[in-house]
Amino acid sequence: MTTDLFTNPKRFGDMASWREEALALHAKGVVHPIEAEGFGPFRAVIGRDEILEIEAQHELFTNGPEPILTRDAYIALRAQGGPRAKTLIHMDEPDHRQYRMLTNDWFKPGSVQRLQPRLDELSRKALATLERGGGEIDFNTEVALPFPLETILTILGLPVEDYPRMLQLTQEMFGAGDPDFIPKDRDPEDVLAVLRDFFQYFAKLSADRRANPTDDLATCIANGLIDGAPMPDLETMGYYLIVATAGHDTTSAAMSEGMRLLAENPDQLALLKRKPELIPNAVEELVRISSPVRHFMRTAQEDTEVAGEPIAKGEWLMLSYAAANLDPRTFEDPLRFDVTREAADQQIAYGYGVHFCLGAHLARLEMTTLFGHLLPRLESVEIAGEVTTSTAIFVSGIKSLPIRYTLTAA
Ligand code: HEM
Repeated sequence: MTTDLFTNPKRFGDMASWREEALALHAKGVVHPIEAEGFGPFRAVIGRDEILEIEAQHELFTNGPEPILTRDAYIALRAQGGPRAKTLIHMDEPDHRQYRMLTNDWFKPGSVQRLQPRLDELSRKALATLERGGGEIDFNTEVALPFPLETILTILGLPVEDYPRMLQLTQEMFGAGDPDFIPKDRDPEDVLAVLRDFFQYFAKLSADRRANPTDDLATCIANGLIDGAPMPDLETMGYYLIVATAGHDTTSAAMSEGMRLLAENPDQLALLKRKPELIPNAVEELVRISSPVRHFMRTAQEDTEVAGEPIAKGEWLMLSYAAANLDPRTFEDPLRFDVTREAADQQIAYGYGVHFCLGAHLARLEMTTLFGHLLPRLESVEIAGEVTTSTAIFVSGIKSLPIRYTLTAA
């Protein structure tokens, strides 16, 4: 197939046209063979049910060796040496289970609930930013970016002074391909340099938490035991890397997309103000539409089939969450933002199965808390300028969201 929908980063800079084309693709089938210059061949799976079916068979369809769509040139470069992150998303059984168990309890709903006071505090801070803004701000840079980042700093137990550095590192990691996020003096393809920065930072943190354990997540990672022995360095780094990055850009992107949807659908804002009990469903609906994790890849370990299509051992499959969340078989009129949509909780933006997003409960709590604080005060909101979106094929979302708004008195 000749579509560049899944392989051209620029396409993700215009999500309205991306979604229209993805929806049109649904009419042609749920599994699409893709050949694009610079990438190995793969099949894009866009059916929601088919993705669930693949993810349920995690031994047949593995995350290794390449869980993210990666250019041939970069795979070749990495094969010559250089640091390779080994994180939860790069692991399969039995390793994955063991590593995931180390922090699983930290992210359970009951445990995440402990963060409620901090999330309330961050939400009040966001409201104060809107008050100070005097009716016009960039919601993405001033609210949606800092909120999840400060949440992650809190759970990792990192000082606020490290905030700018963490922000820069995540944007460089995930923004690969978006020139706005790459320092001028760095080769845009050189993601390895970013990884090295991360490694140095977290090596220091680990040494500190081994010497001075506290009750934060960093202490849990630094002192994690696998088969009774300390976790190897590369895997320890991988753990920090995944926790520090996976929960940041994703949640920011969903928050901004949520505000954009409210600005463009004043009837939905009015409905939520009248019925705040709909906020949790609205959060499912905005995550469905935003789907900031655009895809993950799986590799077939045996000859098999998906949706009646033969799949050969070794074939690479793209699970396109962003397209699957527009599957018209599950979501009627999928491009419409409807906070009362009954099927909203059928969205699969957090994936499914053994790799189901570790931070999903936290992300939900962050978003319901933020919107729960903002909406009662948000009288009206509209888009006040150009909305830009990052151009990256793996995780991407709104980069700039100028809004004009009015607040009711406190
Ligand atoms: C709206 C926000 C978020 C979205 C849309 C999202 C989406 C995803 C997706 C699609 C996966 C892969 C699931 C699969 O393979 O089936 C994933 C995995 C993961 N996410 Fe999230 N995520 C979000 C927020 C977070 C947060 C807040 C954290 C933590 C602080 C987090 C940590 C992780 C980790 C550690 C994994 C790897 C899990 C594994 O491989 O076992 N995510 N996420």
